[in-house]
Amino acid sequence: MVDFTLTDEQKDTRELAHDFATKEIRPVAWELDKESTWPQEIVNKAWEVGLMNTHVPEEYGGAGLDYLSGCLIEEEFGWGCSGVGTSLSANGLAMTPVLLGGSEEIKKHYLGMLTEEPKLASFALTEPEAGSDVSGMRTTATKIGDKWVLNGSKCFITNGSHADWYTVYAKTDKDAGHKGISAFVVPREAGVTVDKKEDKLGQRASNTATISFNDVEIPADHLLGEENHGFKLAMQTLDRTRPGVAAAAVGIARAAMEFAVDYSKERVQFGVPIAMHQAIQFMIADMATKVEAGRLLVWQAASLLDQGKRNTLASSHAKRFAADSAMEVTTDAVQVYGGYGFIKDYPVEKLMRDAKIMQLYEGTSQIQRLVIARETLMPRKAQEPAAATA
Ligand code: CAA
Repeated sequence: MVDFTLTDEQKDTRELAHDFATKEIRPVAWELDKESTWPQEIVNKAWEVGLMNTHVPEEYGGAGLDYLSGCLIEEEFGWGCSGVGTSLSANGLAMTPVLLGGSEEIKKHYLGMLTEEPKLASFALTEPEAGSDVSGMRTTATKIGDKWVLNGSKCFITNGSHADWYTVYAKTDKDAGHKGISAFVVPREAGVTVDKKEDKLGQRASNTATISFNDVEIPADHLLGEENHGFKLAMQTLDRTRPGVAAAAVGIARAAMEFAVDYSKERVQFGVPIAMHQAIQFMIADMATKVEAGRLLVWQAASLLDQGKRNTLASSHAKRFAADSAMEVTTDAVQVYGGYGFIKDYPVEKLMRDAKIMQLYEGTSQIQRLVIARETLMPRKAQEPAAATA
């Protein structure tokens, strides 16, 4: 039987996240956007009420929530402010390679750091010359004695300025393409340098930084998974986190739709509220379908993970569709507002700016299509378990 009913626990989680987004995020979201202000107070509060690090298993101090619950939270954060939401959710991206490939001691130490205090971690994959093409990375890790020595630079790192530790991908065999990449956990105190905070079009309450490693030494046991298996660890991580990004995109689209619905009932043109005009009704109808369809794709991608199944295709369907829909819905919301939609005194232009990154980070919409095409033309075993490491 296919059943889209949430459990009581999942409903409670969603309500908690919605309440948090309503009371703590929404009232300050547009103000934070203006000056690109880092929302430390909200990070502290979200951590206190248990809305961060939700996937950390109980043995490491977390709530051990399922992936679907995580997506319910991310939709509400996206509805409140996706910039703040990205700041609150990025630990999930950073911690996944540790959960998948870390030793017991590494998990205890680094996951414990996140659950004992409101600390942050970042996922450091992208480089100036290696965006969609992960294998093109130039950061290196060299084994010297019982240490790894890292050199290189990473860009577009969410929470990069504030993180206490980083999951870092580096070449351990320069000539082996994707088979020469390894993953590491790197504490900030090992000597990570924060070079630059980006000034962005949208999601301005999130921190995006360039970081670098100049002879940064870490102990040998900070390698995650096997040497030269980091590429797959990154792909397995993204399979697990893209549904959450898609959920945030659904949240943005839902917020834009709600603003457009309310405005269309108030704004009078040609003697009636514009909601009475079919041209507006059809835009609202398309928004509603996109929100609904996006959410169903998210729930499917997350449910497969919760069943221990591989979700690569479902994850890319969800990310591609929800991100593109968020862009379309927010653009149409600006259209419903007419000229006012273009003015910063009204709420929807921020949502349109925020939506754009959804088509870019954690794999562009074109990369999602590439994955979808490959999985459709040359399907991998759909039921293959979401193995810990490959
Ligand atoms: N799970 C497990 N293994 C996988 C996999 C998956 N989902 N996808 C690929 N692999 C394996 C393949 O089976 C293959 O294995 P073998 O070597 O054993 O044959 C290997 O990985 C290489 O696969 P491909 O040939 O498909 O690799 P590719 O070089 O063509 O790249 C890609 C594929 C889909 C383009 C990938 O590089 C990709 O996803 N790029 C986008 C990167 C991305 O999303 N970056 C965002 C960074 S995170 C972020 O945005 C930061 C933030 O802070 C928000």
